[in-house]
Amino acid sequence: MSDELTTLYGGVTSRRVTTRDLQRAKDRGEKWAMLTSYDMLTAQLFDEVGIPVLLVGDSAGNNVLGYDSTIPVTVEELLPLVRAVARSTTRPLVIADLPFGSYQESPPQALHNSVRFLQVGAQAVKLEGGRRVLPQVELLVESGVPVMGHLGLTPQSVNTLGGYRVQGRGEAGDQLIADALALQDAGAFALVLEVVPADLAERVTKELTIPTIGIGAGAGTDAQVLVWTDMAGLTPGPGPKFLKRYADLRSVLGEAARAYADDVRDSRYPATEHGYT
Ligand code: KIV
Repeated sequence: MSDELTTLYGGVTSRRVTTRDLQRAKDRGEKWAMLTSYDMLTAQLFDEVGIPVLLVGDSAGNNVLGYDSTIPVTVEELLPLVRAVARSTTRPLVIADLPFGSYQESPPQALHNSVRFLQVGAQAVKLEGGRRVLPQVELLVESGVPVMGHLGLTPQSVNTLGGYRVQGRGEAGDQLIADALALQDAGAFALVLEVVPADLAERVTKELTIPTIGIGAGAGTDAQVLVWTDMAGLTPGPGPKFLKRYADLRSVLGEAARAYADDVRDSRYPATEHGYT
């Protein structure tokens, strides 16, 4: 039996999705969804419902680790999360985000840290930046590490970008296209486009042969990615304009915790059926 996936949303499930499967999905025009995951239970669940690609993002910083940005996140902090997500899944491609300061210094630094992520189960890494990180991308790809690029609003550069704002408007759009083409030429297998104008993302998607994955980049990319806690409504507040919340986990979990505490206070829990004889 051939192990070619005819769709990323089904087909053969006895092996992991590969970067080649993502390329074939682009070639046949099939769109797909990527989610972040940082732990065993969400990874298992997202695998079960058929999410083909999981990103252990440095967004763990402000979703798991208690920071207010991705800047403080370290390789040491992400390694156990990558290991947990990889161990808990059988089908999705697991991508480890290279955190701030773990690859900018030099290509050997990028390779050293990427190898650590692959050794705990990731199949690929993601890094932020365009032409300035080409030597890193080239060495990683030559060394057998698949690389996903990330352009537009790159949160690790928030201090130079001057905040979380739309990128690539006007002439900056041409620079972004040049960066995207350079990443593709350097061997990146896919590219995240974050918070850029929809028409720019569509142009990049048409110009590139590799898949593009949008977040706040309109409907014209080959795939979409959301931070799972945003997608499921666990994070507070309205969130950015591009976000669609598919559940209200914050209310559900809050109500459950409150009901449990009330039951304990009022001696309704544990009841007789919860005890042992
Ligand atoms: O860290 C992250 O979650 C990301 C996605 C938003 C693409 O980089």
